[in-house]
Amino acid sequence: MFVFIWLIVSLPSNNDALQMKETCQETDYCVTFNEGEIRAEAGLCAVIPCTFTSIFVPKDIIWYKCESYQDRCDNSGKIFYSVKNKGNIHPWFKGRVSLVEPNVAQKNCSIIINDLKESDSGRYQLRVEGKATGEAFSYKEKTTLSVTGLNQKPSMMIPPLTEGQQVTLTCTAPGLCSGSPPNITWMWRGKGEKDSFIKGNVTALKTENLTAFTKRHVSTLTFNSSADHHNTKITCKVSFTGGITTKETVTLNVTCEYLIVI
Ligand SMILES: *[C@@H]1O[C@H](CO)[C@@H](O)[C@H](O)[C@H]1NC(C)=O
Ligand SMILES: *[C@@H]1O[C@H](CO)[C@@H](O)[C@H](O)[C@H]1NC(C)=O
Ligand SMILES: *[C@@H]1O[C@H](CO)[C@@H](O)[C@H](O)[C@H]1NC(C)=O
Ligand SMILES: *[C@@H]1O[C@H](CO)[C@@H](O)[C@H](O)[C@H]1NC(C)=O
Ligand SMILES: *[C@@H]1O[C@H](CO)[C@@H](O)[C@H](O)[C@H]1NC(C)=O
Ligand SMILES: *[C@@H]1O[C@H](CO)[C@@H](O)[C@H](O)[C@H]1NC(C)=O
Repeated sequence: MFVFIWLIVSLPSNNDALQMKETCQETDYCVTFNEGEIRAEAGLCAVIPCTFTSIFVPKDIIWYKCESYQDRCDNSGKIFYSVKNKGNIHPWFKGRVSLVEPNVAQKNCSIIINDLKESDSGRYQLRVEGKATGEAFSYKEKTTLSVTGLNQKPSMMIPPLTEGQQVTLTCTAPGLCSGSPPNITWMWRGKGEKDSFIKGNVTALKTENLTAFTKRHVSTLTFNSSADHHNTKITCKVSFTGGITTKETVTLNVTCEYLIVI
């Protein structure tokens, strides 16, 4: 019993809660970012969590990506401006960034970046503007995003296959991002020289809206299984914007149905 309690107490809190850190300037201007860098994978999306305080009533939010390690980041161009069609948004970021909370008065500056590329890695800076001229503040503190290559694989669901029965395989793309939907393709290869041809039905990519910012992308393949499909390798390939792909392969096992004579 004693050991059991000791184990619970000594386990690190493993619930992945983001550690947030507030940094203040001139006491009234504070910005709260993730402590440490935000990690994400290319092709998927990332949320940069952010809240701020200001003396003036905030009206608009601007985000900059910093070039190298310069202190001011506004030279390399805006990646986001809450005023639609205003300001020169860097072409690489156009249409990829949105506010998680569209009401700027909430002082929630979190953004989501979709269709991530490895080159999105770097430091990001926030600027807030009020109604009156002169009401604007660029927060010195920056937050860091680190985008690595895509490692996550699609997840495939293969029910037990019985000869002669119709079966539906599903493939779910990794990530729950609301950016451009990926393309999902199925490929198969049988044992030996001649490929066992699967006469099937690939449904169009299905997208489920989970929340405003999360979507699940699923493709299904429906076919009548035959003994010829045994040992066929089936691959589901998911292609994201920018030529980023990931795939998973499984081997089919088809069992024969025994004829029961009554
Ligand atoms: C910012 O707003 C989003 C969407 O409403 C919410 O999920 C998130 O928790 C908010 N962040 C903070 C720190 O309040
Ligand atoms: C393929 O799916 C479509 C739509 O779900 C259906 O109309 C069609 O009959 C199916 N074809 C076969 C061969 O099952
Ligand atoms: C999902 O959301 C999009 C807009 O984000 C909307 O156009 C579409 O109709 C929604 N689909 C479903 C099934 O709710
Ligand atoms: C499976 O076989 C049944 C009966 O032969 C047929 O009606 C159905 O369209 C077939 N399904 C597919 C996906 O080929
Ligand atoms: C999906 O395929 C279509 C047609 O081949 C292509 O135009 C589009 O760019 C592809 N999308 C992705 C995310 O790869
Ligand atoms: C089929 O059987 C092989 C060998 O027993 C196993 O490795 C594989 O995971 C099975 N495939 C499926 C889709 O269950």
